[in-house]
Amino acid sequence: MAKVVFKFEQEDLKPVTVLNADVDESILDVAEDNDIHLNHNCGGVCACSTCHIYVERGGEYLEEISDKEEDFIDRAINPRLESRLGCQSIILEEDAEIEITIPDQRLIIGHEH
Ligand code: FES
Repeated sequence: MAKVVFKFEQEDLKPVTVLNADVDESILDVAEDNDIHLNHNCGGVCACSTCHIYVERGGEYLEEISDKEEDFIDRAINPRLESRLGCQSIILEEDAEIEITIPDQRLIIGHEH
């Protein structure tokens, strides 16, 4: 099982550590399974930028970024070198240790799923 630590830009949210993330799950899946709010307006098919996250550690355990993903990241709020799309960040290894920062979701026009 992989370990994923979620941190939040929104100051009133405390970090959450998930110890039972599965290989082949996306970071969006892991967030949803653990009631962590991450927008995903296109439903997780790499066609928006609302699931934008920052991968602070463990990016090497995630599936490589595609050109299409990079294009959508360019349209996200405050893209950085460590930016990814949560729905495209698939966990590849059983013993992965990954640390994510979730941008302030209040700044993103999302819709609840
Ligand atoms: S949910 Fe739209 S790109 Fe990830």
